[in-house]
Amino acid sequence: MPIVTNIEDLRLLARRKIPRAIFEYVDRGSYDEISYRANSEDLKAIRFRQRVLIDADNRSLAATMLGEKVAMPVAIAPTGLTGLVHGDGEMLAARAAEKAGIRFTLSTMSICSIEDIRSAISGPFWFQLYVFRDRGFSEQVIARARAAGCTALFLTVDLPLRGQRHADIKNGLEVPPKLTLRNAFDIISKPAWTFGVLMGRRKSFGNIDAYLKEKRGVWAAGAWANDNFDASLSWKDVGWIRGLWPGKLVLKGVLDVEDAKKAADLGADAIVVSNHGGRQLDGAPSTIAALPRIAESVGDRIEVLFDGGIRSGQDVLKALALGARGCLIGRAFLYGLAAMGEAGVAKALSLIAEELRVSMALTGVRSIDEIGRDILFDDHGGRRAM
Ligand code: GLV
Repeated sequence: MPIVTNIEDLRLLARRKIPRAIFEYVDRGSYDEISYRANSEDLKAIRFRQRVLIDADNRSLAATMLGEKVAMPVAIAPTGLTGLVHGDGEMLAARAAEKAGIRFTLSTMSICSIEDIRSAISGPFWFQLYVFRDRGFSEQVIARARAAGCTALFLTVDLPLRGQRHADIKNGLEVPPKLTLRNAFDIISKPAWTFGVLMGRRKSFGNIDAYLKEKRGVWAAGAWANDNFDASLSWKDVGWIRGLWPGKLVLKGVLDVEDAKKAADLGADAIVVSNHGGRQLDGAPSTIAALPRIAESVGDRIEVLFDGGIRSGQDVLKALALGARGCLIGRAFLYGLAAMGEAGVAKALSLIAEELRVSMALTGVRSIDEIGRDILFDDHGGRRAM
């Protein structure tokens, strides 16, 4: 077993373990990947104030996200096709999250279904919704999420149309998928993945299959979803969703102050400052660049969550310092899942927790609610952190 000391180690292992088409679906961004790169580069460019002799014993990472007590202010982001990264991937990630005391968010475009996750863990989880033209799907899936006891609904608002990811097209990861000689060879050379995913029970879109009934199967369900993304989704639909969902409503994919204010005005409980991991509008600002102004303008009215580019506990700490209430991680957990299944997700979460704990100690904060802009070096020097 190789020694894993950071998320990048998990990423390198993941690259060896799973077919290239799936790895690059996870790992890459849209178009020229400008926003994708900016997410992590802008986080890296922020500097902490190092504080000393402040009694660094006993740091608590305990926090609240969406009104729920969690072991650290980090949750697993909704990511599509996770059950193709590893057999039963969503169930494994949900288990790792539950054991770590944090929340798992299930994507509409997951392989395991809402009911699978309900059977895999006993505590609450969150559900992410894509709205399709066929509104019956949203109504049914929301009812299923309620029945499963999901406590928060994340409505994704930054994907009325899909941004193009060049790698997916080149790798044949399209609807319908293209089987090329190269990806056939690639699959054959990844026996552990093949055994877990291709021989596994779940390999279609669990949530969509349950709706389509007879037209089930990954190709039919994938084609249905692809043709059905509702590009007409607008602010008035937020009221419709609000009416269907009594739990916490989170708008995921807000990057602009005006949109954040509208979300608060329309009764959302929270937003996720997100550019979809750099997978949608290429040329959009990094999420960490957008965060401070959004947090300043609506942070007292709604909860501001954050994702994009997080690869360490230091990144989490920077986002919290700039106003995020909590962070979602996507690729960071997916690399762990691809590398080592549930143990890999657990590893990713423990790496981030430990990095966060140490970095809090070295910046002189004892608890999550003590974290503020004053732990950032640039800010303290009179310049803005971003
Ligand atoms: C789906 O949400 C994706 O980014 O691929």
